[in-house]
Amino acid sequence: MSHRTLLAPSILAGNHANLRKALHLAEAAGATWVHIDIMDGHFVPNLTFGPQTVADLRPFSKLFFDTHLMLDNPANHVEAFANAGANLISIHAEPDYPISETLRRIRDLDCKCGIVLNPPTKVEAILPFLPEVDLALVMTVNPGFGGQSFMADQIPKIEFIAKERSRQGLDFRLEVDGGIGPSNWKSCHNAGADTFVAGTSFYKSKDSAEFLQSVES
Ligand code: DX5
Ligand code: ZN
Repeated sequence: MSHRTLLAPSILAGNHANLRKALHLAEAAGATWVHIDIMDGHFVPNLTFGPQTVADLRPFSKLFFDTHLMLDNPANHVEAFANAGANLISIHAEPDYPISETLRRIRDLDCKCGIVLNPPTKVEAILPFLPEVDLALVMTVNPGFGGQSFMADQIPKIEFIAKERSRQGLDFRLEVDGGIGPSNWKSCHNAGADTFVAGTSFYKSKDSAEFLQSVES
């Protein structure tokens, strides 16, 4: 099954003293999703938002909250983010914790669930989870910071996961995150991605609405 292409602006690149405005800018450009990066300063070398931030933003927006947990212990926090109003919670394949159980927990909390792969991680690491997820996310930068350069050497992973998706008759979304912009989203789309996270290229550009429309048209 194919999904319509969509762009999820990442509020990491918005003004953190005015995240409501960042949501509003995404909505004004025509977005239906927004990407929320949660970092713990351990799994990645940076800190961002917590569940209270998500809960406080929730009443101000109908956007689909695509919540990307970059945490050493995601299992300890999925309930808080689900209760805060996340619509989808993605967890990484790298830390040592019960991944299948945590994906199931997310679904039991009435959220969609996703599995994420870092650039150094072999694609095989997420294969066992593909039948269980609503979204697979291929990182095209090492996570932690916005504004990094897109790693084109990750494209074969997108192709591999897309092939597995059709071979197994699965219908999860295939998302890419990191350095995505007008010049490279199509190469990811050609490889099979349908969901594109854009931080810097959305919030630091005058043509963000145009970019979003070109992805979603
Ligand atoms: C990186 C985050 C990304 C980030 C992308 O650790 O997971 O979602 O917001 O930002 P850009 O689009 O600037 O690379
Ligand atoms: Zn992200």
